[in-house]
Order: sequence, then structure tokens, then C-alpha cells
Amino acid sequence: MAIAVLTSGGDAPGMNAAVRAAVKYCTRSGIAVLGVRNGYEGLIDGAFQTLTPQDVDPIGAYGGTVLGSARSMRFMTPEGRARAAAHLPGVKGLLVIGGNGSLTGAHLLHQEHGIPVVGLPASIDNDIGCTSLSIGVDTALNTIVDACDRISDTARAHRRVFVVEVMGRHCGYLAMASAVAAGADACLFREHGMDEDAIVRALGTAIRKGFAPERAKQRVLILKAEGVEVPTSRIVERLQPIATAVGADVRGTVLGHLVRGGSPSYQDRMIAGRTTVAALQALQAGHTDVMVAWQPTEGGLPTEDPSCRLFGIDEVLTDTASLLDGTSPVTQRRVRMMQAFEGVLSV
Ligand code: F6P
Repeated sequence: MAIAVLTSGGDAPGMNAAVRAAVKYCTRSGIAVLGVRNGYEGLIDGAFQTLTPQDVDPIGAYGGTVLGSARSMRFMTPEGRARAAAHLPGVKGLLVIGGNGSLTGAHLLHQEHGIPVVGLPASIDNDIGCTSLSIGVDTALNTIVDACDRISDTARAHRRVFVVEVMGRHCGYLAMASAVAAGADACLFREHGMDEDAIVRALGTAIRKGFAPERAKQRVLILKAEGVEVPTSRIVERLQPIATAVGADVRGTVLGHLVRGGSPSYQDRMIAGRTTVAALQALQAGHTDVMVAWQPTEGGLPTEDPSCRLFGIDEVLTDTASLLDGTSPVTQRRVRMMQAFEGVLSV
């Protein structure tokens, strides 16, 4: 008996820890594990590799994904999915570790070809529905906070304003959470819906307040989510005259893919391990087309692990869509909390 495992979409620290957990758990249960190369691309091409415990010994500590990943265009077509399904007869299930697109693919593979699938939420952006955290988020936040601390050192030395852009194409969670933890003065995220002039006005206020003689900050730090449409360079350009008026300078730093790499934190390894076990137990119990959520606030089916609950992937995809279009109560609460925090950040 065998299961297949793949990592797909943007890699996230902790994906390898999940693969390692899957191999160890299955080996103990007498189940072979087929690692699929490069996500759904490898599934279409039949690129499998049997994974033994020896193969995965050190990988729990590695960032990226040793299996490789891809954003597969071919898998978005019914023909691509049919070719992929043709490589899976006899396989007891497919464990898919990835984000929104990857879970969509798993759902379609199950709907169209009856393949038993189970998903784990993995995306640094924390933009997946039903789960409170996804694999990779904690490491990414630690990386951002560390980068902001370093930038703050040099910013204070020169009395500068820094605009630091972090990943999050459709979701501002990384910017919001790291702004609070890094002691930023302001935070920009797409969900706010501010236009360029409103952004410049708000940041101008934070700069004047921070460098005012009675406050005399040595640096003003602004966290910006990638999803904000105004480019970082443009914001820096617009803020410079405001900063000049108070004797300061402005710089911008785009952290980009730096935030996606690196050895996973304890929390990401732990979430990866526990959600993997819950997923495999779910498969063994006959569940399919489900994702394991980590500490959801409500709903889902219980598992033996009190922090893991099972949600139908269709429900996850619906919830993800509302998280991204702003209609989800979770997104609305995040925005409200950040708005309430705005005046506090700049104190
Ligand atoms: O994994 C999600 C994400 O990190 C987004 O925040 C970002 O916009 C995107 O990936 C970048 O993707 P790529 O590596 O394909 O450029």
C-alpha cells in the first residue's frame, strides 16, 4: 500500500517537516510513501520517488521543499488532471501540502477522478480559509521581525524613515502582524483600501509625530504589504519632502523572497508534524477531499489532536475567497484591529 505526497505553489518553511513526518508515520504503519517531484507538474509526468526514513532524516530543519514545487499551468486543464490521475491507481491517497491553488487542484482531482486527497495549509501569507495559521507563517514573521530590527539599527544611526515591503500579494496579514511585533510606526495593507494621497497623508502624520521634538524618535518604520498597489519606490519619493521638512531621510527595502526561505521555526515544525499525522489518520479513517486546519475558531470535524480539525476542501476554498475579497469576518476583524492600533503604533 502507498500514499503519494507533493508540495505545490509558493514554498513555505515547514513543508519539509511535513514530508518527514509523513514518511516516518507511514513507515511505522507499513505504508510506502511516493514523493512527487515539483508538485502537480511531477504528478502529470509520473515523476515519483520512493521516500525512506533515511531520505528524510535531516530535512525537517530545511527551508524550501526538497520535493520541489511549481505553479503548474498544465494541471489547471482537465487534460492535465486526467494525465495526473492516470499515474495514481493503487495509491491509497494523495497528501497535498500547499496554498489556495494547490488545494483547488486537490479538490478537482478528487471531484473528477475520485482520487482520495487530503490537504495541509502551507503558505507564508496566512491567506487560507478555516485555519487560524498555515505552515510557514511563523517562520516568515520571525524573519521579517529580525530584518526590521536590523533595519532599525541602521535607521536610528541616520535618523531615517524606512518603508519595508513584505510579501502578501492578496493578504496583508504578514505586514499587520509584523508591524506590531517590530514596533513599527505605521502599517499599510491592501485591505485598508487607501489611495495614494490618503497613504501619504497618514504616513506624513506618523513621520511628523515621530520626529517632533517632544517625541524625538530616532527612526520611523513603516510596514507595507506587497498587495498595496502604490509601489514602495513611489511612497518613498512622496514621503521625502515631508521627511526633509523635519530633517530626516527616507529609504525603502523590499524583503521579497528573503521572507520565504530559511529553516522553519519550532512552531512551524510542530504544526507541520501534527497536521500531517491528523491528515494521514483522516485518510486511514476514510476521509477524503478534506484539509486539516490548525486551531480553527469554529466548525470542522474533530480529530484525535485537539488543535487539528477537518474541513471539506470546498468549504476551505469558499472561506479563502471571502478572506481575500474582504467579506470574511476574519479579514474585517483584522482590519478593525489594525485601525484601532494605528494611533497606538505611532505613539
Ligand atoms: O507564496 C505566496 C507568495 O509568497 C506571495 O506573497 C507572493 O506574491 C508570491 O508568493 C510570489 O510568488 P513567486 O515566487 O511565484 O514570484
